[in-house]
Amino acid sequence: MIKTVKGCKDIYGEDIEYFRKAEKVMRDTARAFGFREIIPPVIEYSELFQRSVGKDTDIVEKEMYTFTDKGGRSITLRPEMTASVARAYVEHHFETLPSPVKLFYIGPCFRYERPQKGRYREFYQFGVEVLGDESPLLDAEVISLAYRISEKSGIKGLKVRLNSIGCKKCRPHYKEVLREALKPHYEELCDDCKRRFYTNPLRILDCKREKKELKESLPKITDYLCEECKSHFEKVQNYLKLMDIPFELDNSLVRGLDYYTKTVFEVVSEDLGAQNALLGGGRYDYLIEELGGRHTPGLGFAIGMERFVEVLKAQSKIIEKETSIYIAYQDSTLKAALDIASNLRDKGFTVLVDSKGGSFGKQLSRSGKRNSDFTVIVGEDELKKGTVQLKDMRKKEQKEVKVEKIIEELMSNES
Ligand code: HAM
Repeated sequence: MIKTVKGCKDIYGEDIEYFRKAEKVMRDTARAFGFREIIPPVIEYSELFQRSVGKDTDIVEKEMYTFTDKGGRSITLRPEMTASVARAYVEHHFETLPSPVKLFYIGPCFRYERPQKGRYREFYQFGVEVLGDESPLLDAEVISLAYRISEKSGIKGLKVRLNSIGCKKCRPHYKEVLREALKPHYEELCDDCKRRFYTNPLRILDCKREKKELKESLPKITDYLCEECKSHFEKVQNYLKLMDIPFELDNSLVRGLDYYTKTVFEVVSEDLGAQNALLGGGRYDYLIEELGGRHTPGLGFAIGMERFVEVLKAQSKIIEKETSIYIAYQDSTLKAALDIASNLRDKGFTVLVDSKGGSFGKQLSRSGKRNSDFTVIVGEDELKKGTVQLKDMRKKEQKEVKVEKIIEELMSNES
């Protein structure tokens, strides 16, 4: 038997209902905040991720699906979509559009990670990016969008973790301070962190293998921010309070992608286990420049769709079921049955027309197995009078209704 590739999964049944429902809330809420959609390609030149996500990150070092195409180019299945949106901004001169440019996206991403609950090799991200504005009001607005999406989907018990990781001016100094503080503990560090000590010591702060006591004893980045970053961070917090968005400051939050500057945040849920980040994001004021554009500040976040669905399911949000209707008929009434099905579908009902035929008894039993809400029984005798039998499958009640009144009757029965 051929199975799905390791770390990938089919999304079907109940999961797809949750997925599409969540997607609709995300799209509608993002549109209400003025975002428009972009669909970037799934593959990009590998260099894009090396220059944006960063050569020394776990994603680029270990997790990318990279191959050489028939023309000898190095191609990568995108591990995330911020880099693609930034590339599109530079490539299509979005700087000529009114600023800020606000874009959202949804699509599959690929990371060669060790699969576990909430961590897959193919996963979907819904994300937003705001380009061309450095106002801290936008940081708060983007965080509030993430929060509202979760709230509107009915998710409870979420925590917003917030931090600032400074900028090109203040972060290098903090890195040195951190290295100094870590030096006496170098031998205790895990192999990854020994490497990070030289490449990016900040990542040691969120390594799950390092001792909590060690991490808590280290200097805090927020004490080393330059005036500009400090004031920006204070304003973000004030705006979040104005918007009634609860948040917690967390100095260990550093994020695993190199492009971030100033504000970084994650929304976590207790219902997720070890991989508890439902979404993550932050500001990236130099990314567009790194990719050859003019200085253009930016920020955004991405939600992991599988994790979002997981939380919705754990909190058992009932998905509203659409009213489903089964049509039973005789050979002589097929045309009328098909017309009724077509009219009902136009009105948004989910309609199944029996395909096996036989007695009404058999057709009704098939309708029952399908869990239909109603069966429309199109019999020859009734049709002569311009009527059909309408059976409420839950109440087990049946009544004769005029063909042109079927919809009215169904609507009056919808709860
Ligand atoms: P990220 O934190 O790497 O950020 O991923 C965002 C979200 O994608 C995570 O919080 C998680 O829900 C989901 N995710 C990541 N990896 C996996 C995986 N292997 N399996 C399942 N879900 C996963 C980014 O990707 C940034 N581009 C976010 C961003 C947008 N920053 C600014 N703009």
